Amino acid sequence: MTYAAITGWGMYVPEPVLSNADLEKMVDTSDDWIVTRTGIKERHIVAPHETTSTMGSAAAREALERAGVRPEAIDILIVATTTPDQLMPSAACLIQTALGARRAGPVDINAACSGFVYALAIGAQFVRSGASRTVLVVGVDTMSRFLNYEDRNTCILFGDGAGAVVLQATTQPSGVLSIDLGAIPGTGELLEIPGGGAAHPATAETIAQNLHFMTMQGRDVFKYAVRAMGDSSAKVIADAGLVPDEIALVIPHQANLRIIEATAKRLELPMERFYVNIDRYGNTSAASIPIALCEAEAEGRLRPGDSVVLTAFGGGLTWASAVVKWGP
Ligand code: UT7
Repeated sequence: MTYAAITGWGMYVPEPVLSNADLEKMVDTSDDWIVTRTGIKERHIVAPHETTSTMGSAAAREALERAGVRPEAIDILIVATTTPDQLMPSAACLIQTALGARRAGPVDINAACSGFVYALAIGAQFVRSGASRTVLVVGVDTMSRFLNYEDRNTCILFGDGAGAVVLQATTQPSGVLSIDLGAIPGTGELLEIPGGGAAHPATAETIAQNLHFMTMQGRDVFKYAVRAMGDSSAKVIADAGLVPDEIALVIPHQANLRIIEATAKRLELPMERFYVNIDRYGNTSAASIPIALCEAEAEGRLRPGDSVVLTAFGGGLTWASAVVKWGP
């Protein structure tokens, strides 16, 4: 039996910080409202010279170094992003070039904030089937370039960043043990970037109508998120042959502290078993889970043999969860 172990991990967040106090000067909001309703205190925003591919490459380099894998050894390079540098070529092609991963098959996938877990699931299948030995998975988004900083419903929530993991074949029962992927039909309009695609190609008019910015019906998304993350986590735990109490750590998508708390309640697990860093980064979309994974590991909260749940939801509305057994 072949398993897909996580052998390297890395993250990158840009240096510039946008605090709640900064946002108070931009829109009608307050630090108190943002902290109470979301748990966010600050988020990092790309510098002018940075993009999705530069951040993704930085996180990938760290993951490869940790795994001791040379870029030429990568078979498949999967980038989860909703905010590629441009529509074509893909962010994965740009990252392939930046890394010198000349043998890799590069591809982007878009499942919004659930994207990293989708990419991990797809990458793990390549490894487990024997089709590939080494897969690089990157979750990266530059949300700040698609936010309307006059819309308080969205601009206070998101930050920029990137995370990456290396998956390698092993015979030890570890890595990605179970996965659950899905979406709720008919909910696309609750969270969207309507302009710039084939339905509304960019014109002066679409720009004037702000169609190139993200819009969101936050309250509806919130309700779907809690149900999807709770039910999907329960499913992957059962599919891995485990019960919730055997889960050492849940690494949830960092969208809103109250969503994480409600998911914990739904799973009947204490908040101590949930990793939270939303206060420092906000919602970094496809990057949130790999960034949280890196920080959880650095803080000693991931030990070899631990069963860990990754669970996310996002635009689509999509959801994705996985149980990962940490360690060699
Ligand atoms: O990765 C997926 C991405 N999406 C999400 O994670 C979104 C999930 N949804 C949420 O996190 C929450 O729904 C929000 C944080 C977006 C909003 O929190 P809420 O508790 O659902 O607030 P609400 O939309 O029900 O609004 C409550 C009040 C409203 O005022 P009134 O009508 O009660 O007078 C809003 O106008 O808060 C007002 N409000 C704000 N006030 C200050 C909305 N946004 C803000 C703001 N600052 N930024």
